Amino acid sequence: MAKLRRIDWYLMSVLIRGGRVVTGSSDFVGDILIEGEQISEVGIALDVPDAEVIDAAGKLVLPGGVDPHVHFEMPMGNQVTCDDFTSGTRAAAHGGTTTVIDFAKQGRGESVVRAYDEWMSKLEAHPPMIDVGFHMILSGVRASLGKEMLQIRGEGVSSAKMFMAYPGELMLNDEELFWAMETCVESGVLPMVHAENGGVVQALTGRALREGRLAAKYHSTTRPAAVEDMAVYVAIKIAEMLKTPLYFVHLSSGEAMRLVSDARLEGIPIFGETCPQYLFLDDSVYSGGSADVAKFVFTPPARSVAHQEKLWRGLAANVLSVVSTDHCPFCMVGQKSLAVDFAQIPNGAPGVESRLLLLYGAVLEGRISLSRMVELFASGPAKIFGLYPRKGCLSPRSDADVTILDPSGSTTLSAEWQESTVDYCLFEGLEVSGKIDTVISRGRVVVRNGCVVGPAGHGRYIRRGECASDLL
Ligand code: URP
Ligand code: ZN
Ligand code: ZN
Repeated sequence: MAKLRRIDWYLMSVLIRGGRVVTGSSDFVGDILIEGEQISEVGIALDVPDAEVIDAAGKLVLPGGVDPHVHFEMPMGNQVTCDDFTSGTRAAAHGGTTTVIDFAKQGRGESVVRAYDEWMSKLEAHPPMIDVGFHMILSGVRASLGKEMLQIRGEGVSSAKMFMAYPGELMLNDEELFWAMETCVESGVLPMVHAENGGVVQALTGRALREGRLAAKYHSTTRPAAVEDMAVYVAIKIAEMLKTPLYFVHLSSGEAMRLVSDARLEGIPIFGETCPQYLFLDDSVYSGGSADVAKFVFTPPARSVAHQEKLWRGLAANVLSVVSTDHCPFCMVGQKSLAVDFAQIPNGAPGVESRLLLLYGAVLEGRISLSRMVELFASGPAKIFGLYPRKGCLSPRSDADVTILDPSGSTTLSAEWQESTVDYCLFEGLEVSGKIDTVISRGRVVVRNGCVVGPAGHGRYIRRGECASDLL
């Protein structure tokens, strides 16, 4: 019986009628016809008897979001992020995102194939509501790495992150970084870098702890923008030597972004993402001694307004290519609050469901155009991470991943509004214009009238193709 209902659903057509259809390259009032899991037609005044009609008049019809930076059920130190693949993808869908890319983490001295298998088991144990891809986190270089990388590349893991920070856990020294990046190049995998000079962070952290500066706010002073800038410089130079494209995750510093811009002007394919926490929060969140400051312990930390302004200009001018979330949720109760000093607070914050509404606010403020918002939110990450035009696109034969945003509505961002299992919101009480009305994942309505209605298990693992290297 359950099987029959599933087949019925796949055969249904859905007509999204009369919305303002916005992609990175077009903007018109029209209709989208979905048949099964894919878009079959895009046009004006489509007439399809028997289709379920979604009236999108007055609403924005966008490609479903692609969030290439989330951490579900990820161990960090002695804690594990509090969303699993079921709760995390439910939260993502609630925020208009229809594809996420998570990071499988290679244990030190272990095979990346084992890490891939482990993340697949997590996905099977907590089935996702929307589609999921994996990057790999490279925690070390071993003789068999090249062979293993080819194997996971065959499974659609076409990008890998390397950390220049977190000594003793994730950090690669410069020699390891060089070999790891070279192995990526040889395996057809896009290298991604977390750029912070971990040695300098360790020195500043050690001194702060010895001098009794233990409060959460010292997370910020021990990770200044300069440590990001110097790491970005080194990583770009290695990429230049290896003639490889390179993607920087969570850039937060204006100077680091300038280095990316200079490289791009030289024709070097360097890509950068930033995240809402660097665009909508500034370092005033660290003032005062409140226990609440631990909420804002994420890495890199929020920077000054001057950095923020530069990031916005970089987004508008195509220096930065993606706004991801780095959703890395740890609860305040029972996780962050257990720490006795800032260095023990698990690094990371939630964000997977507020990305679109915050970016839409920036459109209304005139910081970026609507089509640029779509590029940063959906089509840009889809292109860079080997998902386009299957994802991030509203064209015939694309997956029917669609987000309908009602500009006449409003939303108050809060822990209560969120679907994530985390117990706080970075933007608690912030009222934003717009309401996410409907979200469709591969033809299935998973959010209706702002409420999540999709089942866990609808989402699938997505094998990604080659990451783009010609998108400067
Ligand atoms: O604070 C953060 N960003 N935690 C997640 C791990 C990372 O560096 O992306
Ligand atoms: Zn990182
Ligand atoms: Zn991250």
